Amino acid sequence: MSNISLTRYLVEQQRTHGHIPGQLRLLIEVVARACKRISHAVNKGALGDVLGSAGTGNVQGEVQKKLDIIANEVLIEANEWGGHLAGMASEEMEGIYVVPNRFPKGEYLLLFDPLDGSSNIDVNVSIGTIFSVLKMPEDDRGVDEADFLQCGHHQVAAGYCVYGPQTTLVLTVGDGVAMFTLDREQGSFFLTQEDLRIPEDTKEFAINMSNMRHWDAPVKRYIDECLAGKEGPRGKDFNMRWVASMVADVHRILTRGGIFMYPWDKREPEKPGKLRLMYEANPMGWLVEQAGGAATNGRQRILDIQPKKLHERVSVILGSKNEVERVTKYHAEAS
Ligand code: AHG
Ligand code: MN
Ligand code: MN
Ligand code: MN
Repeated sequence: MSNISLTRYLVEQQRTHGHIPGQLRLLIEVVARACKRISHAVNKGALGDVLGSAGTGNVQGEVQKKLDIIANEVLIEANEWGGHLAGMASEEMEGIYVVPNRFPKGEYLLLFDPLDGSSNIDVNVSIGTIFSVLKMPEDDRGVDEADFLQCGHHQVAAGYCVYGPQTTLVLTVGDGVAMFTLDREQGSFFLTQEDLRIPEDTKEFAINMSNMRHWDAPVKRYIDECLAGKEGPRGKDFNMRWVASMVADVHRILTRGGIFMYPWDKREPEKPGKLRLMYEANPMGWLVEQAGGAATNGRQRILDIQPKKLHERVSVILGSKNEVERVTKYHAEAS
């Protein structure tokens, strides 16, 4: 077993590569600590009375589960007093959360999807937390929503924690992707894989097939070709996986390759997609790129999209590079 704890990994990154300023190291440690608390609540399940709906809704029009709210509170409480943050934004909060005046303010902004995969909470299937870290613009006096509206390529750290058979934290600070597994006896994350690489080719796709009739032509073309198997234009059989927790689907892709798609569809034509740019697509897009994969909205690199609002939605196609490029090419050919 690895004896490199998350703390040691971050200290060594700071010392040898200069990638992580002290405040950012503290921030990542605090997020990891919050994830441990969330993991504990998830594990208790019905015994901790954390399952089921909270009876409220969020700004996206979704029903909030108890764990959506618990995870959101844990992340805020853990992060607000440390002095490393200026503000936070979350899928579960309508506006930004400015660090209260009684605490010192730092130069970072933390964005999160506190609980990803809400529909899987009550059925004991993997769920997770996704986070993204930005820096406050220079010479900015007070934090406001506009400070958060930065392209994904400005992220300084991104990661997720998946609460599955193991609790696993996956992190990038712009120097590749590292994976840590929670050792429950010791209460610490330990490095279990470094420099994750996504194979450029794959035979596995992840998409909610029940939406097929609503897809756009390029997506339909790509999936039709996968389904045609050996006898079709791709000349090979494809396998399908769909957990319906983005964290778990992306985790599989970082582990063994594949392509994940939640494309725009005709159900809600005015919305660019279902998933959220700031809390889901940007952090996952950067992790995937750091592991040698690609992430686009079908037309453009996700990380280059200029966000116009906090809860902006986006079409997401990410994973093995050659497959993502193929779907993106199909979009270009159709326009
Ligand atoms: P969240 O639970 O944070 O609202 O996100 C759910 C997302 C994502 O995790 C997943 O890929 C997708 O919704 C599942 O959508 P379907 O209901 O179409 O399967
Ligand atoms: Mn949600
Ligand atoms: Mn989510
Ligand atoms: Mn969520």
